Amino acid sequence: MPVSANAAVKTIRQIISGVFRIVLDCPPIASEASPGQFVHVAVSGADSTDPLLRRPMSVCDVDVFQGGVTLVFRVVGRGTRELAQRREGETVSLMGPIGHGFELGMQVRQPLLVAGGMGIAPLLFLSKSLRAAGSVPLVLAGFARSRDVILIDDFRGYGAEVHVVTEDGTEGMTGRVTDYMDWAAQEMARRKPGNEIEVYACGPMPMLRAVQEWCLRSGVPGQVSLESRMACGTGACLGCAQLVVDPGGEKRYERVCREGPVFDVRRVIFPSD
Ligand SMILES: Cc1cc2nc3c(=O)[nH]c(=O)nc-3n(C[C@H](O)[C@H](O)[C@H](O)COP(=O)(O)OP(=O)(O)OC[C@H]3O[C@@H](n4cnc5c(N)ncnc54)[C@H](O)[C@@H]3O)c2cc1C
Ligand code: FES
Repeated sequence: MPVSANAAVKTIRQIISGVFRIVLDCPPIASEASPGQFVHVAVSGADSTDPLLRRPMSVCDVDVFQGGVTLVFRVVGRGTRELAQRREGETVSLMGPIGHGFELGMQVRQPLLVAGGMGIAPLLFLSKSLRAAGSVPLVLAGFARSRDVILIDDFRGYGAEVHVVTEDGTEGMTGRVTDYMDWAAQEMARRKPGNEIEVYACGPMPMLRAVQEWCLRSGVPGQVSLESRMACGTGACLGCAQLVVDPGGEKRYERVCREGPVFDVRRVIFPSD
């Protein structure tokens, strides 16, 4: 059940140009959140309600003992610009944790995590949880260029094996992150023959579409975390509707903020270009 809370900013710092890491003191959300869930953040200062609409941010990490909730966000517009101006000790109103996160299942499969750009944020919490459950995630972390690369040391600190892919080849392997899914799958099969793979992905829609194609072609199950513009974040306005298909072939809309943001990769009907 989501809670509303005023959370003090423990720390805020710019980790690369335009990308901030904020740690908020919010024990109820830190203890309740599961990987893939998000919080709805009131980005305005304490003496203002403008902008009125909250902004959705993935839970990037939690510290259950210290009550910390970490968000990592890129400044793209007014709301994120306001949030980046919060200072330590100020309070931020949070609602959360919200949504249906990743299913960790029984961990009989080897986790292959595929991240695109800021989509890496929710996968850190997921990676930590998978590692705690006994798996060693293989992470393909895709970025446009070297100066966009974030969170890699955090993943490694939590025991994941990470491979960076940049589109321009300025760091790690060159190309699109999804170009390396075959390679990762072969590598995982070589290390643990007979052990099946499960894909967990978050990133821009074209990347997720490529992940879906790969999963369907390879017969590998997967879960994808979707983004959509959100208004209420509570399931009421239907502004975040996503077309999905059931195993029986029936199509319907589901809410990214309620039934998502994480969906079975086979169910998502991406808009055609
Ligand atoms: C479930 C969920 C989790 C998210 N987690 C993160 C996260 O961990 N880190 C992070 O940096 N961002 C995350 N986002 C995206 C983030 O919510 C938006 O970037 C933010 O709301 C933009 O607010 P703004 O006022 O700064 O920008 P606006 O002025 O509202 O928009 C600026 C630009 O960003 C685009 N944009 C805004 N919101 C979205 C959106 N939801 N999806 C796609 N494009 C958008 C607009 O079309 C516009 O081009 C998440 C979104 C969702 C739905
Ligand atoms: S944002 Fe209102 S229903 Fe999802």
